[in-house]
Amino acid sequence: MKTAICPGSFDPVTLGHIDVITRAAKVFDKVIVTVLYNAKKRNTGLFEPLERVELIRKSVSHLPNVEVDFYDGLLADYAMKKNAVAIVKGLRAVSDYEDEFQQALTNKRLAPQIDTMFFVTNSEYMFLSSSLVREVCRYGGDISAFVPSEIIEDIKLKTMNN
Ligand code: PNS
Repeated sequence: MKTAICPGSFDPVTLGHIDVITRAAKVFDKVIVTVLYNAKKRNTGLFEPLERVELIRKSVSHLPNVEVDFYDGLLADYAMKKNAVAIVKGLRAVSDYEDEFQQALTNKRLAPQIDTMFFVTNSEYMFLSSSLVREVCRYGGDISAFVPSEIIEDIKLKTMNN
């Protein structure tokens, strides 16, 4: 049984994330999508971690081998606890590369048996990010091309009440 972890802050999950999760679910027996804290984004959040988990659950309910979880700690520790063979991330553009490279090497030191694998993002989603979704929604723009249809209303409601 080969398990992969798809980690991220997912605030909120986007169609770009769903694309990577769907592709990972075809390659691995089990995929655990895990919401973790990103120290660099700690004070910029819209949704609480457990709310993010719920939005992801709604968005991946059609994928039987995908689970969703939250972990307050190191990704490497979590991945070892789950006996994962890989950490899977999406790579959008060259601008992602340096940070992702640093994280992958750090995680490799902390958990040498686990490899980080990158899925090159579908060109349709190259520009897409959670922060862009939050900004478009804050100013009343249409986010339907950016996030799963199941969670559009949740994002609008949260933005209105924020
Ligand atoms: O979607 P993001 O914000 O790019 O995801 C980054 C995330 C949350 C995967 C990363 O910050 C992370 O792994 N956080 C957990 C704490 C940790 O393990 N930090 C060391 C990373 S090398």
